[in-house]
Amino acid sequence: MAIQRTFSIIKPDATKRNLTGKIVAKFEEAGLRVVASKRIQLTLAQAQAFYGVHKDRPFFGELCEYMISEPVVVQVLEGENAIAKNREVMGATNPADAAEGTIRKEFALSVGENSVHGSDAPETAAEEIAFFFSGIELVG
Ligand code: PPS
Repeated sequence: MAIQRTFSIIKPDATKRNLTGKIVAKFEEAGLRVVASKRIQLTLAQAQAFYGVHKDRPFFGELCEYMISEPVVVQVLEGENAIAKNREVMGATNPADAAEGTIRKEFALSVGENSVHGSDAPETAAEEIAFFFSGIELVG
């Protein structure tokens, strides 16, 4: 499998509880390298645009309000099979279903406040990276 890049968000529940370093350590232990990283405060318009694919789901408003409730850390992770590997390290969306040792099992509070976001496919990874980063910010 070739080297891939994926997009990650450390979400408000995690930045608020000062868990950024512990979460990044999980990525690094899994062989993922942080090739871009910034802490930002999303605007409501940005959150709505980023999660546009979920705009008709009942939790859309709640999800967007939550994502602007505290700063987030957006990152690009690089490594072999990075998209699947990141999702493995993250664990299931709902922490109640997440496997032992995963980020969501250890840190997530609920299906909404679930500490991390990770791209689910190569196309979405490319779109999500481009949404937050310019090429010059990616340092492999
Ligand atoms: S998945 O993995 O994309 O199929 O998960 P899905 O269930 O479709 O959820 C998509 C994102 O929406 C968030 N979510 C919620 N937020 C607030 N309230 C509720 N009830 C809720 N249910 C799901 C979930 O954390 C996913 O966020 P991301 O950032 O995409 O992982």
